[in-house]
Amino acid sequence: MSLNHSAEQVHCRRTAALAVELGRRAGVAAQPLAQTALLHHSLEPLRHSSGLGRLAWQVVAGGDARGIADIVQVCNLVDEQLEALEFEYKEVATILEEIRSFAAFEGFDPALLEYLREMRCREFPGVLKLPVEAGTARLVCRTLRAPREYEIRELEAIALRDPVLAGSLLGVANYAPYGRAQRASTVGRAIASIGVIEARKVMLAAAMRPLFTSAGLGPIWSHSLMSASLCAALAAHTGLLSPEEGLVLGLVHDIGAVAVQFLPRETLVTYRNLVASGCPATYVERLLLGRDHGEIGAGLIARWHFPQEFIDAVRFHHQPERSPSKLASLAYLAEFWSGRDEDLPSFGRVEACLARVGLALETLMEMASRDSTLRALQAVA
Ligand SMILES: [Fe+2]
Ligand SMILES: [Fe+2]
Ligand SMILES: [Fe+2]
Repeated sequence: MSLNHSAEQVHCRRTAALAVELGRRAGVAAQPLAQTALLHHSLEPLRHSSGLGRLAWQVVAGGDARGIADIVQVCNLVDEQLEALEFEYKEVATILEEIRSFAAFEGFDPALLEYLREMRCREFPGVLKLPVEAGTARLVCRTLRAPREYEIRELEAIALRDPVLAGSLLGVANYAPYGRAQRASTVGRAIASIGVIEARKVMLAAAMRPLFTSAGLGPIWSHSLMSASLCAALAAHTGLLSPEEGLVLGLVHDIGAVAVQFLPRETLVTYRNLVASGCPATYVERLLLGRDHGEIGAGLIARWHFPQEFIDAVRFHHQPERSPSKLASLAYLAEFWSGRDEDLPSFGRVEACLARVGLALETLMEMASRDSTLRALQAVA
């Protein structure tokens, strides 16, 4: 997460993105909404609807001024509330209800909140059979098709290229009827536990699922590989888990973001519009789905029978302040280190996570500069 954008500028961009989406549903043109939202701090000392009204009038010089001002006002409030979640967690439904209650006082039309509610997704896909990345799926089919003997290490090397393969193997290994006393938390142990013959079948079955192509998946997969390397390095440095377990955590931490690509089409279009206009993924997920991809991913890996500390880490990797889990803090730092803007930037969170895992910022930065895998991945990204 880069911290070098002016907080006010990015707030205005997000407000504009929300205003355009709300306006699309309310039948208000995008351009004056975006202009008013982008300028709402620079031209007027705002926080007051009459100020917004004057600004909107300047932008459109017409009869829509009041409607534009109202939409920007509502979206400004939504953005402020979503920004404040780091300090005080609330459900998005509660936030929308609270903003509606400001309507009489602030002078905007409370019906505008209904457009935001309409934007939200009512049915999130339930049990998902997630796809394996196309290149890895081809590799699995090519390499594992031959009926010969395989080494654990051979299968492990392939499974560590894809979150779904790694997760499926741990899922089978930790499935209760197998009666394992201790849950497997590395891919190697999962393969050893279920046996090479069974592991090969699991991998072939996962790789043969229908390939699902989505513009959003490629970057998630390459980011997952990069995070696996970062989490392994952080694990080795902090001693909180073994590097092999760190690899698994990094690989699956964003599995919920893969699931988000299966949203109903209408929601997915709104999701992509907002992300493309500068809203971070977790912000949009909370707004549209009521939970971020960490919470969604935790539900998925719980069904894969992952150890509880992994489930907690994935659930809270974008809200580390909501959990005592040190692994959630470790995963948050890996996100920060990877430079992928999945969340609102927060140096407070970075500092708190560093303290929780017992690491200094200088050490993290030094590790980043030494990490040759990261440099290589950034070079080809
Ligand atoms: Fe504002
Ligand atoms: Fe994430
Ligand atoms: Fe991530």
